[in-house]
Amino acid sequence: MPKAFARALLAFFDAHQRDLPWRRRKGAYYTLVSELMLQQTVVATVIPYFHRFVARFPDLRTLAAADEADVLALWSGLGYYSRARNLHRTARAVVERHGGELPADEAALRALPGVGPYTAAAIAAIAYGIHTFPLDGNGARVFARIFAERGAIDRTGLKEALAAAALPLVPKDRPGDFAQAVMDLGATVCRPAAPDCGGCPVAPHCQARRLGIEAELPVRLVKAKRRLVELACVAIEREGRVLLRRRAPGELLAGTFTLPAVEGDGTAVRGLVTGLGLRLVGEPERIGAIRHVFTHRDVTATVYRVATRGELPPSAEQGWIGEADLGSLAISSFARKTLALLNTTVATSAAAPSVRVASKPRRQRSARMVSPVIT
Ligand code: ADE
Repeated sequence: MPKAFARALLAFFDAHQRDLPWRRRKGAYYTLVSELMLQQTVVATVIPYFHRFVARFPDLRTLAAADEADVLALWSGLGYYSRARNLHRTARAVVERHGGELPADEAALRALPGVGPYTAAAIAAIAYGIHTFPLDGNGARVFARIFAERGAIDRTGLKEALAAAALPLVPKDRPGDFAQAVMDLGATVCRPAAPDCGGCPVAPHCQARRLGIEAELPVRLVKAKRRLVELACVAIEREGRVLLRRRAPGELLAGTFTLPAVEGDGTAVRGLVTGLGLRLVGEPERIGAIRHVFTHRDVTATVYRVATRGELPPSAEQGWIGEADLGSLAISSFARKTLALLNTTVATSAAAPSVRVASKPRRQRSARMVSPVIT
C-alpha cells in the first residue's frame, strides 16, 4: 500500500492544493512563521497575519533585531501570545546558535523555543525535505480513520503511535508535500463531521471506510471543563485617552495591553484602582460585560467606568493610550471586546511605529505595583 497511497495523495495535492502564502514563498523562515501561527489557529485567520508579519519582518535577522513589543503588536488579535514571544526568541537563538540559518535537523529544531515535535518535523519536512512526518490534530483524524484506530487520539502516546505508523507511507522524495497533502485532506475532505469519502483520493486505503465507521472516528477522551472566571475591568479615561496595562510575564495574554482588571465582581473595583496608584472618585459606573472563551477559561468581564484622582506612578507597564495609538500596540481579541464597550475600536496593526507607553525607565515600586490580574 505505501506507494499507491502516496501516489494517490500526491496526485490530489498536485491538482487541488490550497493556494496559501507560505507555500508561495520558499524558505525555512516562512515555514517557521506559518507553523507557529497555525498552531491552534485556522488557516483563514492566519493568512492576513502572515502577510503583515513577513512584510514587517522579511527575514529571521530582522525579526531577531526587533523589539518584542513590536512582534506582539503584529500578533494582536491572533491569540496564544506565547507563540509570538517564542517565535521572537527562536529568531534570536538561531542567530546566536546557528549563524542565522534554521538548522536542518529535527533535534536541533526541537531545542528552539516554541518548536515542539510537530513543528520541528513540519519545518524539517516542508523546508528541508527531510524524511519525517508532522502529525497535527487534523492528521491524527485522517490516520485514525485510515488505520481504523479506536483508541482515544488525545490519550498520551496515541498521536506518536499514529505518526510512527504513517511514516512508512511517506515517500522519500516528497515528505513536505506529503505532510501538506495530509493537512489539506484533513481540512477539505476528511473533515471531522461528514467526511467526503466520495471525493477522497485515499478512500480505497481507508480501514474506517471499509468498516463503515469513519463518522465514529476519531474517539476522544472527554474534554476537561473550562474554569469560569469573573473579572472586573476598569475604564479610566483622561483627556480622551484610556489607561491600559501591559500584562506581566507569566500572566495569561502576557505582553499584551488590556484595561486594568482583577478577578472578582464590582466590589473589587476600589482595590484595583488603589493598586494602580490612583484614588477612586464617586461610584463606578457599570457600562457592560463581555464573554471570552480561552482554552482553559471561560471569562465574563464586566467593565466599569471610574473617575479617579492622582497621578499615575511612572511605569513602562501602564499608560494613557489614545485611540490612534492602539493600532501599534499588542491588543488581544479579549481586550478589543472590552474596549468596544467604550466605543473604542482598534485599527488593525500595520507597520506603524511602536508606541512606548511610558518614557521613564521601569522603577521598583513593589508596594504600589499592580498585582497580576488573571491567574
Ligand atoms: N496547518 C499547519 N501547517 C499547515 C500548512 N503548512 N498548510 C496548511 N495548513 C497547515
